[in-house]
Amino acid sequence: MKIRTTASTARGSFNGVGPDDRNDDWEDDRAVPVTDAFGRMCRDYARDELAAPPTYHRDDGETNEAHLGHYFDQYDEWAELDRVAVDAVEGVDAETTHSASVPRTLDLGCGVGRTMLRLQSVGHDVLGVDVSPGAVAVTRERGVERAAVMDLFSPATVGPFDAALVVGQQWCAAGTRNRFRRLLCDLAEVVRPGGTLVGDVADPTEAPPEHESYMADHRVAPGVVTRRFRLAYDGEFDPWVTLLMLSIDRFREVVADTPWTVSDVHRDGGRYVAVLRRQPE
Ligand SMILES: C[S@@+](CC[C@H](N)C(=O)[O-])C[C@H]1O[C@@H](n2cnc3c(N)ncnc32)[C@H](O)[C@@H]1O
Repeated sequence: MKIRTTASTARGSFNGVGPDDRNDDWEDDRAVPVTDAFGRMCRDYARDELAAPPTYHRDDGETNEAHLGHYFDQYDEWAELDRVAVDAVEGVDAETTHSASVPRTLDLGCGVGRTMLRLQSVGHDVLGVDVSPGAVAVTRERGVERAAVMDLFSPATVGPFDAALVVGQQWCAAGTRNRFRRLLCDLAEVVRPGGTLVGDVADPTEAPPEHESYMADHRVAPGVVTRRFRLAYDGEFDPWVTLLMLSIDRFREVVADTPWTVSDVHRDGGRYVAVLRRQPE
């Protein structure tokens, strides 16, 4: 894999693939090795070659088949709330001081590029990042222009963006409210003042009845629950993920201590999308 090691601009470099590098030859850096179960699952699904049904395993022993077809769906087929999230980003303005007049968007946990493909098609300059090398490999195969392997909890070397997007609750892998708050502060460093951050969250107070006893056993505080699970595919397990679930009130409390303000919340059952605005400096 070819990686430039020096930042080509003062602001914004990610493994040498920063938003200001769009005209460089980084497409030489294509061969991302598929080393994770999630990535192998995505790659095999994209090729119609799933070796076995993938499964999610919760820490209480509950197992469910992992359905990943929706990661490959087109915009019109998405869940309404996913469209709401992406629509909120589609409407952002490009910073007037940019030489380019199109909005720059950071897709955090881009998966196989579902939301990136939509944003690209409406003219955004999108950088997608994902911790899964396999997902990034598939994303590139699907025609996404700029995708790279990165942990969204270390975003400080990219930016500035007009907007950042999280669809799939992966920012909640922060696991605790303190770590989530720290992530929001870090993201404020990569989104310009006045910019937008949109992400989805699961609300434990609206969980379906069949999950009530799990919610009660994993309750951290009123309106705060953690769910721990991992993916298994074809004999391989990915690491455990601890997902933070927050009621809207608890979410607002976390945001209150950050450079963001909550400008909108859209709920659909047990999940909501929050639209945050970066406060001016
Ligand atoms: C539920 S999928 C959603 C994918 C995509 N956003 C979509 O809506 O189609 C969650 C994605 O987040 C990625 N992810 C999880 N934790 C991450 C982290 N710490 N940093 C970057 N990506 C992460 C996973 O690899 C996976 O691709």
